[in-house]
Amino acid sequence: MPNKRTIIVTGGAGFIGSHVIRRFVTRYPHYKIINLDALTYAGNLENLRDIENAPNYFFERANILHTEEIQGVFAKYDPDSIIHLAAESHVDRSILSPLDFVYTNIIGTVNLLNVAKHEWLDNLSSKRFYHVSTDEVYGALGETGYFTEKTSYAPNSPYSASKASSDHFVRAYGETYDLPVVITNCSNNYGPNQFPEKLIPLFINNIITKRPLPVYGDGLYTRDWLYVKDHAAAIDHIFHEGKNRETYNIGGNNEWKNIELVKLLCRLMDDKLGNTPGTSEKLITYVKDRPGHDRRYAIDASKVEQELGWKPSISFEEGLAQTVDWYLQNGEWLKNVTTGAYQQYYKGQYSSE
Ligand code: NAD
Ligand code: TYD
Repeated sequence: MPNKRTIIVTGGAGFIGSHVIRRFVTRYPHYKIINLDALTYAGNLENLRDIENAPNYFFERANILHTEEIQGVFAKYDPDSIIHLAAESHVDRSILSPLDFVYTNIIGTVNLLNVAKHEWLDNLSSKRFYHVSTDEVYGALGETGYFTEKTSYAPNSPYSASKASSDHFVRAYGETYDLPVVITNCSNNYGPNQFPEKLIPLFINNIITKRPLPVYGDGLYTRDWLYVKDHAAAIDHIFHEGKNRETYNIGGNNEWKNIELVKLLCRLMDDKLGNTPGTSEKLITYVKDRPGHDRRYAIDASKVEQELGWKPSISFEEGLAQTVDWYLQNGEWLKNVTTGAYQQYYKGQYSSE
């Protein structure tokens, strides 16, 4: 791989994208990093305030569905790489409006692939199209077993179906047009800057504002949690050292049943807020289940660990404590993203509360 890179990061104003941008901008001052983001409800330039004036960082507001906008960014920067994170990312929203997920996640990805193919086809050497995907494409596990890179796709939600479809298109562009693609499928991320519609930041916000903690179904659903900065580190490794046309699973080797995780979070929040032990747990409320709810996700990340030497660096207890501290220290950020449209979404999603 050449010493200098010009990388478009799509979705760089979102949760994971902002951590990827920060890592690349600060570790690789000789690279140009272009944040291409449409700034939907989930995109927030506040996430990047600390690095926005770095000389190797550029922001372009553009929509991956709009071909001319993507072509314009290519013409301006002549990128040799794309790290593609832009997506509609929340399962519950995909149940409410699946078409938004079809447009952004499938058509937006194919649009990006088309532009890259057109712009790069005369010279594919040292190009890279890195597609960031999810373990949810593999469907649900029972009590045992792990997702490997060879597990068949069996998506159950409109979100995971749209990500699965985008993965297939990325693979097909590699096979058909020799586009130098790489795909990663990662487990649930947590950490600073996550929009408070996902479990952990939603519950942190509800504990702060003393609202009920809506646990879906019996609360015994299991997820494998990875600290977002460890995901950004894995993306860095795989971007530089991963093989073209390969898929890598990324996971935290850190399974938690939702209710156990929520109880741990409650204890941590009581401690940080100086509450009497047990205060936050009283907010736990079992609510009706999510339709098509996947029972368990668990990743076998041995391929990336053995081939590229990446593994998670931080324990869940430590990562969760850092996450809680970040939300407590960034009350203004939290307040700004939980007004207006968020309230409307919240009422629709949790109306039975
Ligand atoms: P996010 O919802 O926080 O951010 C998505 C970003 O994409 C936002 O900045 C938004 O403005 C931007 N965006 C949305 N539609 C766009 C469009 N049409 N054009 C340009 N930009 C657009 O998402 P996230 O949680 O950071 O996830 C990032 C990626 O990682 C997604 O592809 C997601 O599927 C994948 N992923 C997420 C997780 C997780 O736990 N959050 C786990 C594995 C994989
Ligand atoms: P979420 O953060 O939405 O991630 P994903 O669905 O992509 O795994 O949800 C994580 C788990 O928490 C999942 O099993 C659904 C559950 N959950 C609740 O019980 N209540 C909630 O309000 C939310 C948002 C999620």
